[in-house]
Amino acid sequence: HVTRREDYAPPVWLVPTIDLVFDLDPARTSVSATMQVELKEGAGGPLRLDGGGGLRPLTVAVDGQPAEWRMEGDQLVLDLAGRAHEVAIAVEIAPEANTQLMGLYASGGLLCTQCEAEGFRRIMFFPDRPDVLSRYTVRMTADKARFPVLLANGDHVGGGDLDDGRHWAQWRDPFPKPCYLFALVAGDLACRADQFITRSGRTVALGIYTAQSDLPKTEHAMAALKASMAWDEQVYGREYDLAVFNIVAVGDFNFGAMENKGLNIFNSRYILADPDTATDADYDAVAGVVAHEYFHNWSGNRVTCRDWFQLSLKEGFTVFRDQQFSADQGSHAVKRIEDVRALRAAQFPEDAGPLAHPIRPESYLEIGNFYTATVYNKGAEVIRMLHTLLGAERFRKGTDLYFTRHDGTATTCDAFVDAMEDASGEDLSRFRLWYSQAGTPRVKASLVHETGGGRARLTLEQSVPATPGQRDKQPMVLPLRLALFSAETGKRLAAQMVVMQDAREEIVFEGVSERPILSINRDFSAPVIVETDRSPADLAFLSAHDDDPFARYEAVQQLMLDTLVAGAARGEADHRPVIAAVRDTLADAHLDPAFVAETMLIPTESFVGDQMLVVDPEAIRRTRDALRRDLGRELLEQWRAIYAANHSNRFEYNPTAKGMRRLKTIALGFLAVGGAEDAAALAFGQFNDADNMTDRQGALGVLANGTAPERETALAAFYDRYRGDSLVLDKWFTTQALSMRADTPEQVERLARHPDFTLTNPNRLRSLVGAFTANQYAFHDPSGRGYRFLADMVLAADRLNPQTAAKLIPPLGRWRRLEPTRAALMKAELERMLATPGLSKDVFEQVSKSLA
Ligand code: ARG
Ligand code: ZN
Repeated sequence: HVTRREDYAPPVWLVPTIDLVFDLDPARTSVSATMQVELKEGAGGPLRLDGGGGLRPLTVAVDGQPAEWRMEGDQLVLDLAGRAHEVAIAVEIAPEANTQLMGLYASGGLLCTQCEAEGFRRIMFFPDRPDVLSRYTVRMTADKARFPVLLANGDHVGGGDLDDGRHWAQWRDPFPKPCYLFALVAGDLACRADQFITRSGRTVALGIYTAQSDLPKTEHAMAALKASMAWDEQVYGREYDLAVFNIVAVGDFNFGAMENKGLNIFNSRYILADPDTATDADYDAVAGVVAHEYFHNWSGNRVTCRDWFQLSLKEGFTVFRDQQFSADQGSHAVKRIEDVRALRAAQFPEDAGPLAHPIRPESYLEIGNFYTATVYNKGAEVIRMLHTLLGAERFRKGTDLYFTRHDGTATTCDAFVDAMEDASGEDLSRFRLWYSQAGTPRVKASLVHETGGGRARLTLEQSVPATPGQRDKQPMVLPLRLALFSAETGKRLAAQMVVMQDAREEIVFEGVSERPILSINRDFSAPVIVETDRSPADLAFLSAHDDDPFARYEAVQQLMLDTLVAGAARGEADHRPVIAAVRDTLADAHLDPAFVAETMLIPTESFVGDQMLVVDPEAIRRTRDALRRDLGRELLEQWRAIYAANHSNRFEYNPTAKGMRRLKTIALGFLAVGGAEDAAALAFGQFNDADNMTDRQGALGVLANGTAPERETALAAFYDRYRGDSLVLDKWFTTQALSMRADTPEQVERLARHPDFTLTNPNRLRSLVGAFTANQYAFHDPSGRGYRFLADMVLAADRLNPQTAAKLIPPLGRWRRLEPTRAALMKAELERMLATPGLSKDVFEQVSKSLA
C-alpha cells in the first residue's frame, strides 16, 4: 500500500486529550487510554484508530458503555453517532518480545519507547498521524525495585508507593503534541542533575539518566545541552518552555536519538563520552546530536509536520540549526568541510541512484525508509541556501514569523517558505523547486580571459540529471559564491554571489588585466557538483592563495580527485602537483592543524568510484595506494616532523588539541604507507601510551591496515581492555571491517560469528555490516562474497528489526555502476532477497526500488 502526498486529507476526528495508564512489566504490560474525541467541523464518518504489531483491543467503551467495534486491517473502527465522545480502550503488549524497537520495548533492563514515525500505534489504538495533537497525562505503575525511576513527557505531577513492592508516577504534558512525540521510560537509572535559567528567568531542571556506572560519562552531554539552550535563545530567540528537560540514554536504539517533548531518548553512543572511550569525533557527535534534539523543541515540537512528506520541515531545518551551533562552538571552516564531506559521502550517491527522492518525497511504502541523507542533509543545505540568499537578518525575521504564525500547529514545507517570503519580501517561487526535484544539479563553469579588453567572461551551465519518476527537470535557483584571483600576484580581483536561475548564464568581469583563476561555490554555497576546466597548476595555486578556507580545501581535494580519477582510468597519473600542494599546506605555519588535517585526507575509494561511469574497485585501490605511497615517501621527513610536533602527552579537549591529534594520526598513516621502518613501532607505541581513545583507535586503525605482528597484539589488547564496553567494542568491529587488507571479507565473515556479534543490537549490526559495506574494495570482492554476506545479514536482521535491516541495503543498489560480472552478482542477491517469503515492507521497498 503506497501513501501519496497528493492524497493528503485533514483528519476527520480530533483527540484533544488522552489519559494513558500503564501497568508496566517486561513480559506483559497493560495499557489503557481514555480519549476525548471530536468530529471536525463539517466532517463525518467513522472513527478510525491505527493499530500495529498485532495489537488487539481487550475492551472498548464509548461514554462509559461497552461499544461495538470492528477491525479493518490494523485499524480499529468505531461508528459513533454524535460529534463528541469519550472513548476508552484497553490493550496488552509484551515489551520484551518487541525486537523491532518501535513502540514500547525493553533495552538492558529498561523499558522505553520510540514512536516516530509510526510506533505509537504499537502501544495504543490512535489516529497515528502528526496532525492530530492532544494533551497527554500518563500514569505508570511498576515494580519499584526493578524500575525505581518512572519518566514521561512534561511535568511530574504525582507519585507514591503501592502494595506488593510496586509504585506509581503521574506525568502531565501541558503542550498538545502528536503521538510520535509521546515517550515513557522505566528503569533503574542514575541521574546527572543540573539546571538552566532561561533568559526570562525561569529555572529548568535538567536531568541526564543512565546506568549508575555510566554517569561520569555524561558531563560532556550536559555541557552541550546547556550551551544549546543558551545558543537557541541568542541566535533564534527561542526559549525552553517546560520546567523539566530530561534525557535518557539507551543501548538498543534504531537511530541517533529522539526529540520527545521534555524527554529526549538517545542512543547511548550520542550521550556517553569520556577520554578513555570516546574519540574526538564522538565528542563532536554527542554535542551535535544533543543540540539537534534540543532544537527540535521548537523546530519539530512547538511547530510540527502536517504529514510525513513534510519531514524535512523539521529535520532539514534542525540539522541546519545544529550545524550552525557546532560551527559556533569551534571552527566554521572545519565544520563546513565535515558537513560537505558527509553530504558527498551519503547524499550524493543517494541522489544518483535508484532510491533518489526529493527532500519532500511524493510517495512511500514505509516512511521509515525516508529518514535519509536527502531529507536530513540535503534538506539542511536547502535551508542554508535560504539563509545565504536572504542574509542572516532577513532569515531570522523569517524564522520568527514562521514560529509565531505556526506555533502549536502541524504545517508544511510550503508554509516555511511562505514565511521566508513574507518576512523578506523576496520572491521564492522558483526556489521551491528544491523541494520537488531530486538529483544533484551539475554546474559547468568556464572562464575565458579576453586579454585585449581586460575582461573575463564566465559561462555557467546547469543541468539536473533524471531520477526515478522524474525525467525532465527545470533549472534550479543556485546561489554561487565566486571570486577571481590573479595568477601573477595571488590578489583577489573580484568576488560576488551569483544567483543562477537559468540553464545558461554569462557573467562578465571588467577591468581584469592579469590572468584570473576562478574560485567557485565558495563555502559550498550550493549543494551541486561543479565542473571546471582549471588546470592542476591553477588548483595548486588556489590551494595556497584562496582566502575562503573551504575553497582552499576544495582546491586540494579537486586536485587529488582529478589525479585519482585519471590514475584509475589510465593506470598512472602525475602525482607531482598533489605532492607540491600537500607540501606547501603542511609548511604553512598559519594554518589551523584541524584544517590542515582535513585537507590532507585523500578522497575515499567510494568517492572516487562515484566520479566514474563504471566503478573499478581494483583500479581505484591501486591508484589511491600509489598516491598515498608517493605522498608518504616524498614527504617522509615532513610527516615525521608533523608527527613529533603534534604529539602531546596530556589529553586536553579543545579545537586546537583535537586538530593536533587528527593531524598526528594522519601523519602516522603516511609514515606507514611511505615505508618508514619504525612506523609499526610508532603506531604500537601510540596505541599503548595513549591517554585517549582518539590516539588509541587512530593507531589501531593504522596497524589494522598492515601486516606487522603488532596488529594482532593490538587488536587482542583492545578487545581485552574494552570487552565490557559495548560502544567501544563497536569500534573494534568497525576498525576490522574497514581494514584495507586483502583478507577483510573473510575476516568480516568470521567476526559475524564472534560471540560478541549480535543482530539484535542496531549499533553492533551497523558497526560490522554497515562499516563493511562502506569499504568499497572489500565489499566488491570479485567473488561476490561481500554481496552474499550483506544479503544474508539483511534477511536475518529483517526477521527481528525491519527498519534497521532496510537501512543496510543501499550499497547493493549501486549495481548498475559496476562492471557486468559484479553487477550480475549484486542483482542476483537483490533478487534472492526479493524472492524470500515474509519480507517486511521496509526491506521490500528498498530491494524492489533498487532493482527497478
Ligand atoms: N526525529 C529523530 C531525529 O532526527 C529521528 C527519528 C527517526 N525515526 C525513524 N523512523 N527513522 O532527531
Ligand atoms: Zn531530527
